[in-house]
Amino acid sequence: MRIVEQAESLAPFHRCALVPTMGALHAGHASLIARAASGGRPVVVSLFVNPTQFAQGEDFSKYPRTLDADLEVCQAAGASAIFIPSVQIMYPRGLSAANAEASALQLPRVATQPKLEDARRPTHFAGVCQVVAKLFDMCQPAAAYFGEKDFQQLRVIQEMVRREGPRWKDLVVHACPTIRESDGLAMSSRNRYLQPNQRHNALALSRALTAAQAGARAGMDIAAAQDEMQQVLARHELVVEYAVIRSPDTLLPLDTFQFAWKLGARALIAARLHGVRLIDNADCGQA
Ligand code: PAJ
Repeated sequence: MRIVEQAESLAPFHRCALVPTMGALHAGHASLIARAASGGRPVVVSLFVNPTQFAQGEDFSKYPRTLDADLEVCQAAGASAIFIPSVQIMYPRGLSAANAEASALQLPRVATQPKLEDARRPTHFAGVCQVVAKLFDMCQPAAAYFGEKDFQQLRVIQEMVRREGPRWKDLVVHACPTIRESDGLAMSSRNRYLQPNQRHNALALSRALTAAQAGARAGMDIAAAQDEMQQVLARHELVVEYAVIRSPDTLLPLDTFQFAWKLGARALIAARLHGVRLIDNADCGQA
C-alpha cells in the first residue's frame, strides 16, 4: 500500500476507485473501501480532516486523529494507496482564501433548500463540495464511494457530479449502506465522544427510524409518523434538531397524502446527546 502526500504522485492512480474520508476509520469506512476494491480498480483512500467544512465552535481541532490504526484498516480492506495531503497541499493560498473560495461556490439545491444539515451547519456543504471537487480533480477517479450515513452529503455530491458533467469524465458515484453496531447504532467517528452510560440513549435514533418504517408499512399519515419519531427521541434525553420524513431525491417535504410513501421516502434525524451531535437516516418508502 502506497502512502501519497503530493497530488502529483497520484498520477499512476488516475481512473482509480476513490474513497474520501476524514480518518478515524471504523467498519463503516472499511465497508466503503471493500466495496470499492470489489470493483477491480485500484482503491485510493483519502484521509484529510478538511478545515473548510467545519464552522467555528465545531470539533475540527478535537476531531479524532488515529493515523496508525487508519492505515491498518485501509490495508485490511484492500486499499492500494492512501492520500494524506497537508492543508498546504489542498489549500496552497491559505485558509482564509480557501474559506472565501468555498463561500463563493454555487451549490446544488439539495445543499441549500431542505433546511436539514444546511440549516444547522450553513457553511458545511460549501466546504464538502470544495474539498471533494479538489480530490476528484487530483485523483481523477472513475468511481467514488460515499455512505448513506450522511444522506444529504451523498445527495449533494451526486448532484454536484451530475451538474459538473464532463469535468470528471464519466465518474460514477456509488452509494453504500450504513453500517451499524450490533445494537443498531450507526457507526460514526464521533461515537467515541459518547460516555458508556449515554450509549443507551443514543440508540433512540435507530429506534425512531424503525418507528418511521413501521408507520410507513401501516400506511400512517406522514405527519403522524414524524410525531412517533419525535416521541421516541424525547423519551431518551435527546435534543432534537430535526426528525423528518422527506423526498429521497430533493429532501424536501412530501405531500401528506397516504400514497406519498409509495413515491419514496427517507426518514432523517439529527439530535444532540449531552453536546454530542448524532445523525442517522433510513429508507422508509413503500416498495
Ligand atoms: P467521514 O465522516 O470520514 O466519512 C467518510 C465516508 O464514510 C462518507 O461517505 C460517510 O458517509 C461514510 N460513512 C461514515 N459512517 C458510515 C457508516 N456507519 N456506514 C457507511 N458509511 C459511513 O464524510 C466525510 O468524512 C467528509 O465530509 C468527506 C466526504 C471526506 C469530505 O471531507
